[in-house]
Amino acid sequence: MDRIVWKDDYSVGHPDIDDQHRYFIGLINNVIKAQELSYPEDMIHQLLFGLLKYSEFHFRGEELIMRANRYPEFEKHAKLHGEIMTLLEHKVGAFGGKEGGIDDILGMLVAWFQIHTVHEDKRFATFLAEAKAAPQPG
Ligand SMILES: [Fe+2]
Ligand SMILES: [Fe+2]
Repeated sequence: MDRIVWKDDYSVGHPDIDDQHRYFIGLINNVIKAQELSYPEDMIHQLLFGLLKYSEFHFRGEELIMRANRYPEFEKHAKLHGEIMTLLEHKVGAFGGKEGGIDDILGMLVAWFQIHTVHEDKRFATFLAEAKAAPQPG
């Protein structure tokens, strides 16, 4: 599987969120690399578990930033985060079993990064940019 390479197009324009997304790409790429190098299953499982924990941290952080900026689509976005976490927890929990293939998990992670970050997180970025450009009350 190809590694993810950061593109300017992935930037949502908020430095903390962008830093976390970059770090996230690194975590996904570590799993891809570990799989290419045939690391033992328990090590790959540890990497996946770390990814799961980082996702939780990232989603919470992103939600705090959204709330602080009174993002009108906050509820919808937080629900998407919840759905991704549920799916990821299930896949990481099932890893190593019959339905827990690494390709399946990696495919999901790469697709999710590209779809969620580029489309959903960017909607928030657009909102932030517009809110900053609008004249401030008072
Ligand atoms: Fe994100
Ligand atoms: Fe998000």
